[in-house]
Amino acid sequence: MCGIVGYTGKSSALTPVLEGLRRLEYRGYDSAGIAIPVGIGQPLWVEKRAGKLGNLEQTLDGTSPQSHSGIGHTRWATHGGPTDRNAHPHLDNEGKLALIHNGIIENYVELRSELEAKGHHFVSETDTESVVHLLSDARKAHDGDLAAAMRDVCARLRGSFTLLAIHSDDPDRIVGARRNSPLVVGVGDGENFLASDVAAFITHTKRALELGQDEVVDITPTSIVITNLAGDVLPPHEYEISWDASAAERGGFSHFMLKEIYEQPKAIADTLIGRINGFDAHLTSGIDLAHIKKIVIIAAGTAFHAGLVGKYAIEQWSGLAVEVELASEYRYREPIVDRTTLIIPISQSGETMDTLMAMRYAKSHGAQIFSVCNTNGSTIPRESDAVLYTIAGPEIAVASTKAFITQLIAMYLIGLHLGQFTGVITAEFVAQMHDELAELPDKVEQVLETVEPLRTLTRQFKDSSSMLFLGRHVGFPTALEGALKLKELAYMHAEGFAGGELKHGPIALIDIGTPVVAVMPNVDTLLAEKMASNVQEVKARGAVVIAISNGEVPAANHVIRIPSTHDLLTPVLAVVPLQVIAYEMAVARGNDVDQPRNLAKSVTVE
Ligand code: AGP
Repeated sequence: MCGIVGYTGKSSALTPVLEGLRRLEYRGYDSAGIAIPVGIGQPLWVEKRAGKLGNLEQTLDGTSPQSHSGIGHTRWATHGGPTDRNAHPHLDNEGKLALIHNGIIENYVELRSELEAKGHHFVSETDTESVVHLLSDARKAHDGDLAAAMRDVCARLRGSFTLLAIHSDDPDRIVGARRNSPLVVGVGDGENFLASDVAAFITHTKRALELGQDEVVDITPTSIVITNLAGDVLPPHEYEISWDASAAERGGFSHFMLKEIYEQPKAIADTLIGRINGFDAHLTSGIDLAHIKKIVIIAAGTAFHAGLVGKYAIEQWSGLAVEVELASEYRYREPIVDRTTLIIPISQSGETMDTLMAMRYAKSHGAQIFSVCNTNGSTIPRESDAVLYTIAGPEIAVASTKAFITQLIAMYLIGLHLGQFTGVITAEFVAQMHDELAELPDKVEQVLETVEPLRTLTRQFKDSSSMLFLGRHVGFPTALEGALKLKELAYMHAEGFAGGELKHGPIALIDIGTPVVAVMPNVDTLLAEKMASNVQEVKARGAVVIAISNGEVPAANHVIRIPSTHDLLTPVLAVVPLQVIAYEMAVARGNDVDQPRNLAKSVTVE
């Protein structure tokens, strides 16, 4: 959702704030704004513009004020359209207090009526503006103590939020708060940072502090004080950011997504380090496996597709029943969940609200939580009993690629680990599978070396109105993932189907020239034979078929060859050409690859 940055220190704030916003723009790009104090007690200098950060940057020039603190925001609109007026920061009526917000304030209507009745004048349609007026009154009630005011205000808010505020009476101070929405502190030398994500300040410091639920943080260049809403000072939880600053740069690639596609071999290798060939014994420490009768994987979007693949592997190897649930649906159907249920939330960001709420629901009913996450210190792992971190590094492009592939690896590691625990698979089998896993980085590299013709081929379909993806077994979730990638990047109608379901309806969609991608990785299997029949069926009705396979597919018009691997591991190789198709189609159609319309990387609202 929105990206938030605060800086107070020795530099001119405009530079680190804009640099942070640039790195956080993946979180939302409907509008952007910045607030900077220009003199004690003076109205703040505020600039904000609808559209991407570039629009805001164009309005800034050498005459923009120099100041040692400031806050900035890049927005993904919820309440109020993406206009200049609705862009953050929002101001109190004196223009001295500025506030930026990520999340949704559910009780903003009642707050707004109350504040309007008191004489506050509103200028936007946002939920956020109610908070800045409320904070303004609370600050006065606390004799200018912004942190105390923030604590009072948070206690009155319903919903989810990260808030940052700055007042020109105390220009070096920035106060932040969070509930169900991310906020981290960057600890510098004579300078401190607040941001939605460490990427915002990674070039300045690798020291970060976690903030818990309903905590308020008060920073100046030389101090950081964290309190709960009662005002008790809390000990800081510091951690070192392991990501390299260059990981958050495009590094010569035309888009982050392309770079991230090419980083997949390394991401897989890094995720396997210390977890295979005898080093996996502690994978689930913290979890009481002996009493687990059922596993429920909860996730959203691409992570959900990783979970679907996980079901095949975990059930087959462990003999434990696995359900995979869309996080947004899970808690609203009163699912059967108790101490014997192991919940596996999968989330790249660790902040997806649907996943977090589903997980909390299960936890409150006694379930144990073993999360799979890519973001250290984020909320989902913090609230879990145990975590398996994927080591994909920062994923900046909105469309998930390397995070997905490492989530698949996590599923296999968990399946093999549980299989040993239940005794369904032998140590020899596990060793063999670990060897197969260890070969995947090279095999993905091979796929990447041979996808060039696919890029030209994809462009032939740039004007198609629809593209269909077919697969069976683990090829089915792979097909779903291929379709999701294409939708979000190419804005093209796309659907993934189980091959066997075609005849039950979807085949009616096939017309002359409809492109169909058939995921049929291992040719010599029964499933590939069945898929070959599906290919014949769609081709007979005019479809142009691109098969993803390790061998010849005579019925297909085009074959993209991938190396062989164990059936359950094939999504790792088969998904790569699908990512390339989506990427190339987006480029061919002139779309913004890294920041597709209407989307945001981390979805922190329900
Ligand atoms: C995938 O390309 C998406 N951008 C989206 O579906 C994403 O996977 C989903 O929102 C879940 O995010 P998470 O992994 O951060 O929880």
